[in-house]
Amino acid sequence: MIHAMSTARPRVLVTAALPYANGPIHFGHIAGNNLPADVFTRFQRLKGADVLSICGTDEHGVAITIAAKREGTTPQAIVDRYHGVIARILERMDIRYDNFSRTSRPINHEMAQRFFTDLLDGGFIEEKVEKQLYSVADGMFLADRYVLGTCPKCGHENARGDECPKCGAWLDPLTLIEPRSALSGDRPEVRETKNWYLRLQDFQPKLEAWIGAKTGWKENVLRFVQAMFKEGLRERAITRDLEWGVQVPVDGGDGKVLYVWFDAPIGYISASIEWAEAQGAPERWRDYWQSDDTRLVHFLGKDNIPFHCIVFPAMLMGQKEHYVLPDNVPANEFYNLEGRKLNTSAGWYIDVEGFLDKYPVDTLRYTLVATLPELRDTEFSWRDYQMRVNAELADTFGNLVTRVLKFAVSYFDGKVPEPGAFDASDEALLADVRACADEVAACYDGYTFRAGLERAMALAHTTNRYFNEKAPWKSRKTDLVQCATTIHVCIQAIRQLALLFHPIMPQTTERLVGMLGIDSPLGDVGWDAWAEASLPAGHVLGEPAGLFTKIDDDVIAAEIAALEAQAAAKTKGATMDAEKNVTANETTTDTTYEAPAIRETVSFDDFMKLDLRVGRVLAAEELKKSKKLLKLEIDLGVEKRQILAGMKGHYTPEQLVGTNVVVLANLAPRKMVGEESQGMVLAADAIDGAPLILRIDGEPPTGTTVH
Ligand code: MF3
Ligand code: ZN
Repeated sequence: MIHAMSTARPRVLVTAALPYANGPIHFGHIAGNNLPADVFTRFQRLKGADVLSICGTDEHGVAITIAAKREGTTPQAIVDRYHGVIARILERMDIRYDNFSRTSRPINHEMAQRFFTDLLDGGFIEEKVEKQLYSVADGMFLADRYVLGTCPKCGHENARGDECPKCGAWLDPLTLIEPRSALSGDRPEVRETKNWYLRLQDFQPKLEAWIGAKTGWKENVLRFVQAMFKEGLRERAITRDLEWGVQVPVDGGDGKVLYVWFDAPIGYISASIEWAEAQGAPERWRDYWQSDDTRLVHFLGKDNIPFHCIVFPAMLMGQKEHYVLPDNVPANEFYNLEGRKLNTSAGWYIDVEGFLDKYPVDTLRYTLVATLPELRDTEFSWRDYQMRVNAELADTFGNLVTRVLKFAVSYFDGKVPEPGAFDASDEALLADVRACADEVAACYDGYTFRAGLERAMALAHTTNRYFNEKAPWKSRKTDLVQCATTIHVCIQAIRQLALLFHPIMPQTTERLVGMLGIDSPLGDVGWDAWAEASLPAGHVLGEPAGLFTKIDDDVIAAEIAALEAQAAAKTKGATMDAEKNVTANETTTDTTYEAPAIRETVSFDDFMKLDLRVGRVLAAEELKKSKKLLKLEIDLGVEKRQILAGMKGHYTPEQLVGTNVVVLANLAPRKMVGEESQGMVLAADAIDGAPLILRIDGEPPTGTTVH
């Protein structure tokens, strides 16, 4: 008997954490899970895997009812509105799912109730009358986000009843220090009520064995779950005294609903069932969820770790039907904005759709992937975005494409030229072109998307360097065969770059494929076939055009100013109530200030690139054209500089003239309101936007270096 070779495609099930339908999503959600999930999905599809990708909105729980109250409407109206808003943002980000569902759909209610019943029948759920926080002022039990207090684990002052947004701990509301009602500020009392508890301790040995056998999991994730195991799992209430949510499917469950974190992850399964039904193959979801060769990957932010690594797997283990457990949970750290935590209510956010109205989606996808919080908290900053677009995308990748393809049009009839014999440097670049496909693939497959992007960009750099060294504009006149070889090799590198960047920048790379004169979309060819092939001599190229447009300094300065104004407008509203009157030179200790997380580590060498100096302010004047800027003349010992500092209204010119400051002396000059600024004066960013200048101990000579 002859056995057919197994040609089964690997089966991959991708989920991205379901965002609460209580507002638009922002860069934090996108960088935290949606974008890595999309890059991973696109890559796996190129690799030929059979992928099902799932997301949707999380529509139950107190996150929703609080939003309804704030906006003076019903929970239903809130989820209907924001489901649409979020779906549109994802669509515009080119983030695609096979199904983007909603946890409020009947199928999810049904599945959540079935999960509950199975666990109850298995003896894993018990009914108990226990103490909960009750607010007399509000006339209700304070579930989850209805109660705030200090986190017993990390001391964060705004922990919620169920979760600490800072350390990610899954909390018991009774352990909150100094609890207060989120609705009225009332100090709750403790009253008894009946709830159903999931006996997580029954699953601990199985969970430990399962996770213990895992390789390739991120350190942060393992550390988190190991700490939970060490403390010991115990039973946790999975029902709530609320009206909005999935009804508890037992007698005596009236007026109670399932905890949102019980029904939300089941939403992944319900969404898969919905997808299968829409395919006309209603049982097909089982191929993914119930066969052990499925690679299930949950993309999420670190605050979702306990639910995806402990609670949901336990719920799956306790079902009568068999389910796969996640193969990996590559949780990300947090994503900040311009040195501060993203905070929509404080106005510290960038409206995604507004952004996409002005800038191309692929430049944002690229920048977010380049800065994904894979290992530690990272941030989006406008200057970094500008640098990535101008230096990396336009000057490195885009410029390479344009100059090579234009060269081929001008001197080789718009065709891939016939190469001569390859010399060592041609061979070296061609070897790099071949090697990088596997290296980048390993990064994308192993959830190190930033490294994949960097490896791809390294090929663009190498190719630019090769082009410069080969100087085809010279060899064209002296050695036409060598010139043809150079362009031939460069075209192969560009073709490969289209593949490497495709999961990150799908639109741009398909445009590039068109410019290369290739008819079939890259997406249809697949990773391996594309990586192994090359463009033969004589192939007719398409029409070259610019891939990226650079962004001017003024545009970026205006964006930063707009962000600050948006935040100031919010804080003004808030501080006006409190009638806070703080002048610049008073020190303020605002206890509500949340220090941003420490940014990524830089090397000592990187730090030493900064040339910091003691400077003396020789003159200062207020710039009429600007609300914020002072024009300073500063002596650096070796030379004098004109520096614009955002200190108008906080320091008077008289307060500054004759004093010493610390200056970043080798910052690239830039123009603001038509004046050049040749450096930066260091100051602490105070909470209310008032800078506090760094002063120096003693009287060092002007121009002294600072480390
Ligand atoms: N809505 C949750 C959050 O934003 C995530 C839910 S993920 C799911 O933190 F698995 F529960 F769906
Ligand atoms: Zn905490």
